[in-house]
Amino acid sequence: MNQDLFKTHLATTIEWTTQALSVAKGEGVDAAGALFHSGGLKHYHHDDHPVAFRAVAHFLRFAPLSSPDHVVRFVGGEAHLFEFVPHDFWEEAPARADHPFRQHLPITTVSSREELRSALGDVSKCAYIGDDPEFANSLDVPASLVEPPALIQALDWFRAYKTEYEVDRISEAIRRSGVAHEEVLDGFRGRQSERTLVDRYLNATGHRESNVAFDAIVAWDEHASILHYQAKKQEAPNPGSVLLFDCGARVDGYCSDTTRTYLHDDVHPSFREIVARLDTLVHTLIDSIRPGTCFVDLQRNADRGIAEILCAVDVLRCTTDEAFDRGLTAPFFPHGLGHHLGIQTHDRGGFLPGPTGDPVAAPDRYPFLRTTRPLESNQVVTIEPGIYFIPMLLEPFRSGGDASSFNWSLIETLTPHGGVRIEDDVLVTADGCKNLSSEVVPR
Ligand code: GLY
Ligand code: MN
Ligand code: MN
Repeated sequence: MNQDLFKTHLATTIEWTTQALSVAKGEGVDAAGALFHSGGLKHYHHDDHPVAFRAVAHFLRFAPLSSPDHVVRFVGGEAHLFEFVPHDFWEEAPARADHPFRQHLPITTVSSREELRSALGDVSKCAYIGDDPEFANSLDVPASLVEPPALIQALDWFRAYKTEYEVDRISEAIRRSGVAHEEVLDGFRGRQSERTLVDRYLNATGHRESNVAFDAIVAWDEHASILHYQAKKQEAPNPGSVLLFDCGARVDGYCSDTTRTYLHDDVHPSFREIVARLDTLVHTLIDSIRPGTCFVDLQRNADRGIAEILCAVDVLRCTTDEAFDRGLTAPFFPHGLGHHLGIQTHDRGGFLPGPTGDPVAAPDRYPFLRTTRPLESNQVVTIEPGIYFIPMLLEPFRSGGDASSFNWSLIETLTPHGGVRIEDDVLVTADGCKNLSSEVVPR
């Protein structure tokens, strides 16, 4: 990685953090600076085994250290990293990442919380950003400065704009998920079990289940209709006609999120046509993205595009306008079109109107949409329309007033194929956008 990329990224992160503190001050948060805590280790209830650790996103923007109790102290426009390396004979010390932050951040190493408290000095006037209010309390940070919502909002607002370094890291994560998709595509050809495929994905990305971007969705046939299908069956698929694979990789804290749906020759021709048309729709939607594009409009356009597909393949027996106006696509496409992508797979900040101001909720028609924010350059989002055959959602339409607009016999034929989702990761540029995953992840 180019050293200068991180140097510029750090300068920008410092600038945005300064701005966020200033915005929060205007909202009544009187903080002398901020403490970004990577987080505290949690344990299962009445158990001495820890829960898999995930570092706090705001901390990771400064340094990709994914273990507990590191702190970035941000005071007077300067960031100082307190790196926590415990003296511990139970576990291997966290890897001391070889990464340019070592050249660009002042670092103090500490080996216990006592040492950390004393090295931090008096931070009682700083805001605490992290998941461990008791730790904040032990630093004498008052409750009013623990995760103040106005500061979190401003930080989340700025986090949606990716630096060149962040786009580079997301692109590297996409490259890794591309390798995983190649591996899983090979296993798809041999109709391997979901369990085998997820193992191949983990090996290809170098991840363990505890540090994936999210639990990969490896869904054969009707399992593809369960949106966040989490089970990974050990037995071979039967029949194994359709595989939906949705996975992420994580590089220096940054995630990718890509989905493909692979088809064997025995798939029903109407389902094959749905998949081909959905692939065209993904490209059409992405081609329309430019700064200023409203994500709610994109969602509507996706919905209309799906209405058109369902009418064209005779799943719906009405006009596209009728299908769209009467909301007949709802049982087939029940989720949001996409979300911001970054340190979190579902990056926060999608409902914000600005660094201050009340969130803008998703419209009633699209309750699961994760962003209502107009797109701006340097943001990264996913575009992921899908068409599914979900009996639970279709059932009410069987007896409803629109029942005659559904081709129930074709729906029953296609239901064992589950569904299709195609997901690409897109960077908004100054005058359009760039599909970061189209060429890297096999279709
Ligand atoms: N894997 C869930 C999503 O694509 O957002
Ligand atoms: Mn996904
Ligand atoms: Mn996604």
